[in-house]
Amino acid sequence: MLPVNPMDKNTFRRCIRDGDLVIVYERHDNMKPIKVNKESELQNRFGVFKHAEWIGKPFGSKVFSNRGGFVYLLAPTPELWTLVLSHRTQILYLADISLVIMYLEIVPGCLVLESGTGSGSLTTSLARAVAPVGHVYTFDFHEQRATSAREEFELTGLSSLVTVNVRDIQGEGFPSEFCRRADSVFLDLPQPWLAIPSVVNMLKQDGVMCSFSPCIEQVQRTCETLKSKFTDIRTFEILLRAYEIREARMGSGHNNGASGPLPCKRRQLSPGEATKESQESLHPSVMAKPCSEAKGHTGYLTFARLRCN
Ligand SMILES: C[S@@+](CC[C@H](N)C(=O)[O-])C[C@H]1O[C@@H](n2cnc3c(N)ncnc32)[C@H](O)[C@@H]1O
Repeated sequence: MLPVNPMDKNTFRRCIRDGDLVIVYERHDNMKPIKVNKESELQNRFGVFKHAEWIGKPFGSKVFSNRGGFVYLLAPTPELWTLVLSHRTQILYLADISLVIMYLEIVPGCLVLESGTGSGSLTTSLARAVAPVGHVYTFDFHEQRATSAREEFELTGLSSLVTVNVRDIQGEGFPSEFCRRADSVFLDLPQPWLAIPSVVNMLKQDGVMCSFSPCIEQVQRTCETLKSKFTDIRTFEILLRAYEIREARMGSGHNNGASGPLPCKRRQLSPGEATKESQESLHPSVMAKPCSEAKGHTGYLTFARLRCN
């Protein structure tokens, strides 16, 4: 999934090989990860696709079934992985992940501690942010989840960047071997305030932590605990609104089910074009409306920087 070796920075410019992981894309809300096996086939509503025909094609290629249907074969990025991974727990999505990476100031070479691992959605992006020479140590007290996450990091090619361990972080804290070595720490735990004394010991001077919690009561308790050792304590909730942008004809009476008039911008007419209102209405306009499937509340992200003594 990632160029772990700096010499391989154009990983996805190469062609698809037997054994590669690809994301089979039908639509933005219909994708699935597949490991290419020259003996296998993919069957879906579009027909039968032979993996053997995918080998040697560049990532991003459009490939056809026996019935002329098609899908795209995308390179497996952390962004796409988050959309296709199997959910063993609640996961973090792109909007929250983006803010976490930026606010935790994660760059190549960082050492990051995380708990819990859950489905590894955030871990995958953390791994890319620290690559090629940093490392993510992630902890979950649930053995089976840790095992599944480890297997998936093998599949996605991230195992040299991520170590998964089984540990009760609320009860025992992070292992002392990471004392004063972590650039940043991320917590997605039910009682994060119990882990904060350990986070204080793990962070380098000026290090940053983040805690993700679905409920505001958890945030209040976390902030209360952070006050004594941290500064710049800030909590965010990200509400992401996607828009559907499409061309439609003004005055045609069709707005595809929207209840009122859609906000729109008329295409500029060049001097030679018709100017009468009736003719103008025949020109396509660009309509914009918020998607009905917009994601609402996921959780609160609380960031804090270790106070220097
Ligand atoms: C919501 S999931 C994390 C999801 C993850 N952030 C992702 O994006 O996929 C929370 C995880 O924390 C783990 N967990 C809960 N309490 C824990 C504890 N005391 N120590 C370590 N892990 C814990 C759970 O087993 C679960 O897998």
